[in-house]
Amino acid sequence: MAEVEDPSGRTLVRPLDAAPIVEAIGVSKRYGPTVALDNVRIRVDPDQSHALVGRNGAGKSTLVGILTGLRSPDAGEIRFSGAPAPPIADRAAWRSLVACVYQHSTIIPNLTVAENLFINRQPTERGLISWPALRRQARALLDRWNVSVSENARAGDLRIEARQLVEIARALSYGARFIILDEPTAQLDGEEIKGLFARMRELQAAGVTFLFISHHLQEVYEVCQAVTVLRDARHIISAPVADLPKGRLIEAMTGEQVHLPTADTGGRTLAADAPVALDVHNLSGEDFTDVSFTVRRGEILGISGATSSGRIGVAEAVAGLGGFTAGTIRIDQKLLPPDDVPAALALGVGCVPKSRHKQGLVLSQSVGDNTTMTINRKLGPLGFIAPRRKNELTRQTIVSLGVVTEGPDQLVSRLSGGNQQKVVMGRALASAPSVLVLMDPTAGVDVKSKEALLGVVERMRQEGKAILVVSGELEDLRACDRVLIMRHGAIVAEHKAGWTDNALVASIEGI
Ligand SMILES: Nc1ncnc2c1ncn2[C@@H]1O[C@H](COP(=O)(O)OP(=O)(O)OP(=O)(O)O)[C@@H](O)[C@H]1O
Ligand SMILES: [Mg+2]
Repeated sequence: MAEVEDPSGRTLVRPLDAAPIVEAIGVSKRYGPTVALDNVRIRVDPDQSHALVGRNGAGKSTLVGILTGLRSPDAGEIRFSGAPAPPIADRAAWRSLVACVYQHSTIIPNLTVAENLFINRQPTERGLISWPALRRQARALLDRWNVSVSENARAGDLRIEARQLVEIARALSYGARFIILDEPTAQLDGEEIKGLFARMRELQAAGVTFLFISHHLQEVYEVCQAVTVLRDARHIISAPVADLPKGRLIEAMTGEQVHLPTADTGGRTLAADAPVALDVHNLSGEDFTDVSFTVRRGEILGISGATSSGRIGVAEAVAGLGGFTAGTIRIDQKLLPPDDVPAALALGVGCVPKSRHKQGLVLSQSVGDNTTMTINRKLGPLGFIAPRRKNELTRQTIVSLGVVTEGPDQLVSRLSGGNQQKVVMGRALASAPSVLVLMDPTAGVDVKSKEALLGVVERMRQEGKAILVVSGELEDLRACDRVLIMRHGAIVAEHKAGWTDNALVASIEGI
């Protein structure tokens, strides 16, 4: 209640606005020498979508860990609807207040949707799990929140966006009405993002509040009403999105005025006699058919399309990460066998894989070990890379890609998501490849680091590497000499440099 004076001089008592659904006050958190959060605050009002933005390593995921009770802050306080947060050990109480849907799903792929929804609280009949009741309850829950997914589907067969909706439904069934989405769109294509946003809006209308983390600032304007910016572990500003145009938002994130240059091919022409370094001929595999293209030295070729278009299958085949059943891949005229990473490495293919956790990094190893891993593999079991050389290479990577880390010896698992992605890029480059295959290379990377990373790609082109960029992200494709579009496993269009965003998006979406 607030005391207010009315014009006649009497003191009136009026209710304040509804309490924020969640509030963090003066929250600090250190990891050894790293200050991850320094006296940070945030206040999220009910029935809103509130964006949390900041550069890689700014502290966003750390704050999420604290808001979900997975980590305790060194100092500060969390309140839900005005009441103090439950003790860390009381998981059930936290679950009834808040949930976070991560990029890396917590759904168990080998269980059905129904089993995932009621894991550890299955309905029982005389001590036995009642499967019909389980399915019924799951269906009712999915219907209540309008999630059109079969309760009998194997969770691992669901598309990422459907999996996210199942996770949201599960959180809501525990009573939580505050859901955190940590980079939910990083693995989704245009259509899937539209679908997720439509569901977010519906849920918001039904009384659900979101905290939304994304490096795609246009998404912040599309689905959020308020935004909080963190920079270097500190709170910089909280404001309605309408009051913070994009230029000022980026300024708050970076601490400087930025003019984001749009990368383009600058009218460069490729030497007509540049040798072909990558030759893919009539390639067919699980989700692509009869795909042919070449990439010459000093050329950047893009391949785009929806996530299900087969573009990733093609890229993985070229990188040795996936098989093919017909056709050929030649690297500098030498045949590449299917599904053989060591062979691809030996022939000079460097790769940023789609999934940095499954195919990219060894989380339990250091930044330095991960960066130089491909060199060790290339040298073979008896190969040896001198510690001094290893350190030098790692430091180069840290500087040129702007990795926020304590140093080469820090474990990769201790880096923020975007900084892990930069290490994957550094690793792809360390083996001095002649062909680079980059799959969604800037996923999870902040606006400014994106520039640095794409700058490195341009440098690689100038050094005469053949580069294949396979991405759904227009920014990644701007520097390409040509962009091929795939749909249903086949190449359906080619766009020369100079395409407009509209034309490319229309082509990707098949309109
Ligand atoms: N378990 C940990 N041990 C040591 N340092 C950590 C740990 N987790 C995070 N950090 C450090 O805390 C800082 C903040 O990391 P955080 O993951 O919160 O960043 P973020 O804003 O989510 O970045 P991104 O956009 O890259 O995901 C980083 O410097 C990171 O290296
Ligand atoms: Mg993060």
